[in-house]
Amino acid sequence: MNIQSIIEQMTLEEKAALCTGASAWTTTPIERLGVPEMIVSDGPHGVRRVPNVHEVAATSFPATCFPTASCLASTWDTALIYQMGEALAEECIALNVDVLLGPGANMKRSPLGGRNFEYFSEDPYLAGEMAASMINGVQSKGVGTSLKHFTANNQEFQRFSISAEVDERTLREIYLPAFEKAVKQAQPWTVMCAYNKVNGTFASQHDYLLNQILKDEWGFEGLVVSDWGAVRDRVAALKGGLDWEMPGPQERRVKEVVAAVTSGNLDEAVLNESVRRILRIVFMAAETPKAGTFDVDAHHALAQHIASEGMILLKNNGLLPLKDQQQIAVIGRSAEHAHFQGGGSSHINPTKVAMPFNELKARAEEAEFTYAAGYPTDNSFRQDMIDEAVTLAQTADVALLYIALPSFKESEGYDRKDLDLTSQQIALIKAVSAVQLNTVVVLNNGAPVVMRDWVHDVAAVLEGWMMGQAGGAAIADVLYGKVNPSGKLAETFPARLADTPAHLNWPGGAGEVRYGEGLFIGYRYYDAKQMPVQFPFGYGLSYTSFAYSNPQVSATHFKDVAGVTVSVDVTNTGGMAGKEIVQVYVHDHVAGLVRPFKELKGFAKVALEPGETKTVTIHLDFRAFAYYHPEYKQWITEDGQFNLLIGSSAADIRQTITVTLESTLNLPCILDMESTIREWMADPRGQAIFGPFYAQMEAEARKAFGGDDNERYGTEGAIGMDIMEMFSDMPLVSVLMFQKDALPMHPEDLVAGLLQQVHAA
Ligand code: BGC
Repeated sequence: MNIQSIIEQMTLEEKAALCTGASAWTTTPIERLGVPEMIVSDGPHGVRRVPNVHEVAATSFPATCFPTASCLASTWDTALIYQMGEALAEECIALNVDVLLGPGANMKRSPLGGRNFEYFSEDPYLAGEMAASMINGVQSKGVGTSLKHFTANNQEFQRFSISAEVDERTLREIYLPAFEKAVKQAQPWTVMCAYNKVNGTFASQHDYLLNQILKDEWGFEGLVVSDWGAVRDRVAALKGGLDWEMPGPQERRVKEVVAAVTSGNLDEAVLNESVRRILRIVFMAAETPKAGTFDVDAHHALAQHIASEGMILLKNNGLLPLKDQQQIAVIGRSAEHAHFQGGGSSHINPTKVAMPFNELKARAEEAEFTYAAGYPTDNSFRQDMIDEAVTLAQTADVALLYIALPSFKESEGYDRKDLDLTSQQIALIKAVSAVQLNTVVVLNNGAPVVMRDWVHDVAAVLEGWMMGQAGGAAIADVLYGKVNPSGKLAETFPARLADTPAHLNWPGGAGEVRYGEGLFIGYRYYDAKQMPVQFPFGYGLSYTSFAYSNPQVSATHFKDVAGVTVSVDVTNTGGMAGKEIVQVYVHDHVAGLVRPFKELKGFAKVALEPGETKTVTIHLDFRAFAYYHPEYKQWITEDGQFNLLIGSSAADIRQTITVTLESTLNLPCILDMESTIREWMADPRGQAIFGPFYAQMEAEARKAFGGDDNERYGTEGAIGMDIMEMFSDMPLVSVLMFQKDALPMHPEDLVAGLLQQVHAA
C-alpha cells in the first residue's frame, strides 16, 4: 500500500475527516481511494462489540469476560496474560473488531480511584510487564490494541478536566514507565490519551507527552486516539500530537481543521503526519480477515484458569483447603449472583457465567449446603438478614461468606469515598464469625478494602477480585484445593484510608490535584514511612511453603550498561504442588537525590512439585539501577553499592546480595552561578578546579568565624555553628562575597572564570 500516494490524492476535507471518527466506533472510510473503515471496541478484559457500530447502544454481542486488570496483575504471569491476549484477539476477529481498546496501564495512586479495577498495579515495572504481554498477545494475531489512558489518569473526580500536577521526576519514574515499557516492548497500534490535564495542559493536546516523549523519544509508531470526548481544541490537539479524535462524526471539527490549514494556522504537514499514522494502522488492520467464531468453552476455561492464578489467599489459619466438612453454610448474595466485573465502558456481555454456589456444590457432592443472602443489593441495613445467616452458620461445620463490594461503591465514573465494605457486610462478617470459628470470607472487589474490624475474627480470607465470568469456578477450586493459590498482591492493602500515600492530596479541587507524595506511592510510601499495612505488596499465601537458598550474581562489580543477572534456588518445602512468585527489588545505598528505599525490578513465577528445587534467574539492566535526574533531563546511574533484595513479598526479603555499580555515563556539567559549594565539591570536574581553593577558604573562614574559645561560648566558636557546613549550602559566589576584599577580582568574575574552566574540562 502506497500511503504517500494516497495522501497526495486526498482532499483537505478528506484528511480532516479521516482524523475524526465516522461514528462512535469507526474511522472514516474513503471509498474512492480504497481506504476501508476500521472498527474499534472496548476493552480491556473482553470485547464489547455493539451490533451496529454506527449507532450508540448499550448492549453488546456475547464475549468472554476475563478477570479485570487487578486480578490479571496478581497472577504475575506474563505468559498467561499473553495467552489471554491471543484469546481476546480471536474474539475480535470473530466479532469483526480491528482494535481492542485496552489495556490500561495507569498507576494506582490511591486505592480510592474508581477505575483501579481496570488498572494493573501501584508499581510501574509490574504494570508495564503486564501491559506489554497483553498487547503482544493480542497483536500477534493481527488485531490492534489501545494502550490507555496516557497519562496521569488516576481518579474519576473531575476526570474530564482536572489538572494532575506532577513533577517531572515523578512522571518519569512513576506515571510514565509502564507506558514506556509497553510501547518499547510491544508497539501498541494505538495509544489513547487521557481525559485530564497534566500540568495545566489537556493530555489530548500535550505536545511534550505525545510528540516529544511518546513519539520522538520512545519511537511510538502507531496512532494516538483521544479518549471518548477528550478533545477540546481540535487544532491544538493535532499540533500536540493527537492523530485521531473519537467519537465521531464531528462536522464542526472537520471544518475547524480545514479552516486552520487554509488560514495558515495549521501546517498541512502536521495534518499529513496524522493522516499517515492513521492510514498505516487502518491498512494494517485490513490485512487480518475478520470472520468465523471463537471457542466459547475454551475461552471460558482460560478465564477460569487466569482467575484461579490471580486469586490471593490473604489469610489462612489452616482451615483451607476444605476437606470433608459436611454442613456448609454459604452466606452472601454474590454466591448466587456472581460479581465478576466492574461498571462502565469495560462492561462485557458474558458468554456464560459460573455461579459460585453451584460450583461449590459440584465439588462436594456429599456435603449439605444451606444458603442465606446475608446482605441486600442496596445500602440499607437489614438485621433480619444477619439473623438468618447467623442461624445457618451456628449449626454448620464451616461458613463461607461471599462478600462483593457493590457497584455503588466502586465503578468507572466515580471514585470510592472510603475503603470499607458496606456496614451491613461488616456487621454480617462479625456476627457470623462470632458464632462460627470456621468462617471464610471470599471477597469480590476491584481494589483494596480495609479489614481491621473483622480480619482477626475469621479463619481465612480469599481475595477473589473481579474475577471474570468463570471466577465462580476458580473460587471453588481454590477453596477445595483443586488449585493451590499462587496469586500475590500487585498493590498494597493498607490498614486504613488515612495511611494511604495520596491521602492529603486527594482528590484535589479548584481544577487541580497535586501529586504531593511524588515518587512515594504504594509500597514506596509505606517503606519510607516505615508504616505497617494490612497486607504488603507482593504478598499472598499458598497451601505449601517455599524456601530460598543459594543466591548468586553474575558479577559483584559491574558496569551499568551490562547489568547483572541474579539467581536463587527455590524449593517447595511443603506437601502440595504449588507456584511461587520470586521478586527482586533494588536498594540504592547512597544517591544524589532522594530515592525510594527499594523498587521492584524483576520477578518470575515458578511451579514446583513437593520437594522440588528450581533455579530462578532474573536479569537486571541499566534501568534497574537508574533514576531520572530532572536537571540532566535523563536517566542516570551513579557509582556505588546496591542491595539486590530477593523476596517473597515487599515485606518478606529472603536473600540479599550487595553489588557495586560502575557508571559509564559521561554526564554534562550542570554547575552554574547558583551552584552551592556542596554541588561544586560533589561534581568531579568542579572538585578538580575548585577543590584547591576550598582548603584555603575553609582555613580563612574558620579563622574569621570559628575561633577556639569554645568554653567561653559553650558552643563552637563565636557564632556557635560549624561555619563550613553552613557555607556548603550557599552558592559559591555568595560565600565569596563575604571575602570579596581579600580576592584579586570580583567574586562574580571569579566564579564565571571557574565555570568556564569546568565546562571546558
Ligand atoms: C473510557 C475509555 C473507553 C472509551 C470508549 C471512555 O469513557 O474512558 O476507557 O475506551 O470511553 O468506550
